[in-house]
Amino acid sequence: MQKGEFLYEGKAKRVYRTEDPTCYIVEYKDTATAFDGLKKEDLANKGVLNNNIAALFFAMLQNEGIPTHFVKKLSEREMLVRALQIIPVEVIVRNIVAGSLAKRLGLPEGAPLKSTVLEFNLKNDALHDPMLNQYHIQALELATARELARMEELALRVNELLRGFLEKRDIILVDFKLEFGRFGGEILLGDEISPDTCRFWDAGSGEKLDKDRFRRDLGGVTDAYAEVLRRLLEVK
Ligand code: TMP
Ligand code: ASP
Repeated sequence: MQKGEFLYEGKAKRVYRTEDPTCYIVEYKDTATAFDGLKKEDLANKGVLNNNIAALFFAMLQNEGIPTHFVKKLSEREMLVRALQIIPVEVIVRNIVAGSLAKRLGLPEGAPLKSTVLEFNLKNDALHDPMLNQYHIQALELATARELARMEELALRVNELLRGFLEKRDIILVDFKLEFGRFGGEILLGDEISPDTCRFWDAGSGEKLDKDRFRRDLGGVTDAYAEVLRRLLEVK
């Protein structure tokens, strides 16, 4: 599949058209950003690691019946995906208190949640991705009630599948962010699933294996991502 017209550059990826109007090529960059791009650094090989990690997660989820945009891995940095019309709502799934939830509610990081928490953020860096509820989403016509229900259903199912898959690899799935899009009348899971968009803690030591290492200047960012990939590739 040939790379066509450059379409869009995000903080961590570039998107290109292909000769097939229903498919895009996503290229994973080495750039790491945090705090809406305020903190920014190039980390050698991060794009390769995230492309490989996301490809494995998408393939597993697809196998389990989750409709995703993933078609196939094309190269070490590129994957072929369905050309979604992205819904500008980030769906956050939380199993354990961390990050902005800990801050907002004054709860200790690591506190377990009695049940899974779903949150929605508007995808808008200039506004710092403000939180939305289902009323905002419908009133602003970001998604229909039916689309939102489908996104919630898929997000919860993805959580169960990822949690089980990672548990077998001694990784605790603390929280993560998903994006969805429209394709041929269906809602598909889009964007990426990687240590950039999830919190992964080592089950034994509690060590952080995700972008919090970059956000919090802990060092060893790509070593941690490589460790996640190594564990995903282990046959279980
Ligand atoms: P938070 O605790 O900062 O709200 O993040 C929750 C999860 O969502 C965490 O796994 C990181 C992920 N996330 C993104 O992928 N992109 C973002 O812009 C933000 C704020 C969080
Ligand atoms: N993705 C956002 C940024 O790059 C925030 C984050 O993940 O911390 O600024």
